[in-house]
Amino acid sequence: MCGIVGYIGKRDTAPLLLEGLQRLEYRGYDSAGIAIQSGGTGKGAGGLKTAKTKGRVRDLEDRIPKRFTGTAGIAHTRWATHGVPNDVNAHPHLDPLEKVAVVHNGIIDNASELRAKLSAEGVTLVSDTDTEVLAHLIARSVADSLETRVQEALRHIEGTYGIAVLHADFPERIVVARNGSPVVLGIGEHEMFVASDVAALVSHTRQVVTLDDGEMATIKAGDYRTYTTEGSRTSSSPETVEYAAESYELGDHDTYMHKEIGEQADAVDRVLAGRIDDRFATVHLGGLNLDPREARAVRRVKILGCGTSYHAGLIGAQMIEELARIPADAEPASEFRYRNPVVDPDTLYIAVSQSGETYDALAAVQELKRKGARVLGVINVVGSAIAREADGGVYVHAGPEVCVVSTKCFTNTVVAFGLLALHLGRIRDLSVKDGKRIIEGLRKLPGQIAEIMESEPEIKKLAQEYADAQSMLFIGRVRGYPVALEASLKLKEVSYIHAEAYPASELKHGPLALIEPAMPTVAIVPDDDLLEKNRAALEEIKARSGRILAVAHQEQEKADRTIIVPKNEDELDPILMGIPLQLLAYHTALALGRDIDKPRNLAKSVTVE
Ligand code: F6R
Repeated sequence: MCGIVGYIGKRDTAPLLLEGLQRLEYRGYDSAGIAIQSGGTGKGAGGLKTAKTKGRVRDLEDRIPKRFTGTAGIAHTRWATHGVPNDVNAHPHLDPLEKVAVVHNGIIDNASELRAKLSAEGVTLVSDTDTEVLAHLIARSVADSLETRVQEALRHIEGTYGIAVLHADFPERIVVARNGSPVVLGIGEHEMFVASDVAALVSHTRQVVTLDDGEMATIKAGDYRTYTTEGSRTSSSPETVEYAAESYELGDHDTYMHKEIGEQADAVDRVLAGRIDDRFATVHLGGLNLDPREARAVRRVKILGCGTSYHAGLIGAQMIEELARIPADAEPASEFRYRNPVVDPDTLYIAVSQSGETYDALAAVQELKRKGARVLGVINVVGSAIAREADGGVYVHAGPEVCVVSTKCFTNTVVAFGLLALHLGRIRDLSVKDGKRIIEGLRKLPGQIAEIMESEPEIKKLAQEYADAQSMLFIGRVRGYPVALEASLKLKEVSYIHAEAYPASELKHGPLALIEPAMPTVAIVPDDDLLEKNRAALEEIKARSGRILAVAHQEQEKADRTIIVPKNEDELDPILMGIPLQLLAYHTALALGRDIDKPRNLAKSVTVE
């Protein structure tokens, strides 16, 4: 949430920062701003120039005055937490003398207290933000170095931050700090970058250093150093970013959502690559850090994630129960962390997150670790905060996901759970025969996904038919229920059509009252042992003049329309059944003219509570 980018070097800064902001816009897009050192060195020389505005990065571009040049700068794209999106609340925030500029991602928990204290001392605060206090606190320090001034200011702060600081009196450096919100340094040739996400850097350098919580860095054109907020030096060697710049590009697609839905067959190939062991009908998961004896000792599995990742966790829990026969369930990480959960030593906890940054999931992991639990991660972003915090895990290798709504990461996460369930199953009681059956099913997935993509023209027509709905009901039973939940979330996020998901078995207990011709139902109807039960639910809806769109393995007589999906193994069917409904959400949003990659009020990587 919120994108930060900074640059110091010989090139003209503003165009580089604007390009970086464009790439980070998915992290927040209600306002944007930039501050640069306007040239000159030494005390009093140059000074800071800023431009900021409510709106998108393209609006900021229109606001940049002529001769906005400099060789160091910081910029920000915002997702508002404190104060409405407007020009004043946009970052960077400055002190009254405009010596200090700060961009910030995170939340300062004691902001109101600090604001009151500063006001009582005669400081005029111009914005409604939490971040502004930092600019004032840094400006008040008289320490010799900018690093110490920032450290002194941070000592007053409670909360989370990824910050970058520019100071007119220290024009040859940018100081950054991290506590709970990501900060990555990008190392170039006689130039340095900083960003909240490698997406902003990869077109310039793939050599990066990721800061840890409690760590700071000073970047200069020719070098960088890292140290703690207490001032002790830390060692950090650069790593190479896994994906090249092209993976972050839109290419020929109109939207990232469409691009990412279409990448799923390749993405699933990647999560399977090198992991299948035909000889023992199992899989190798190199980073799990769970030996067979420990795996056998697991009595329960508890999966934690938010939003789409929680839905992937629900499917994962069913797979683990079915294949490994370990009782498993999933819970929103955001709920779990606040209910003082009983942490059981025989339970294996699994945190699921695309970004690996989601604050609620990270906080749940930290709480679990504090209580001595073993926590694994099922994560997409390599080296992200949750991945570092976990004792081990499975990377889902979906590749960069830029659209705010998750599609290919969901699918890859569910496949990763299939691998984990098979692995645990084969250590316990899953037979070789069943192991082979699941492996065969996993291998079929990329081809079957490609087959589903061929039905896109038909799904597009269906979307146009349903786009006038005010509300839609999604139903599924057992394996189909999390698919319904995820499909309903996808539809509401991108199209803004109200959608609700219910277990099909619960229809008679209430939601049937909603059924009438204007309330379409999307039903997940796999060919498994619950087929007849699902058909009975369709009958009930039809008898009340409801319109039905079924996602099924064969034509459903009671449905008005059926999207046919290729059949896999029963346990793996949920992986495929959600994909046509991603396309349905996408084409519905397209028909309604929505801002598909940046839905209103949302942002990717929810690094705040
Ligand atoms: C929905 C969506 C969100 C995220 C959620 C968790 O399309 O993308 O619901 O799934 O914010 O994010 P991660 O997976 O990064 O922890």
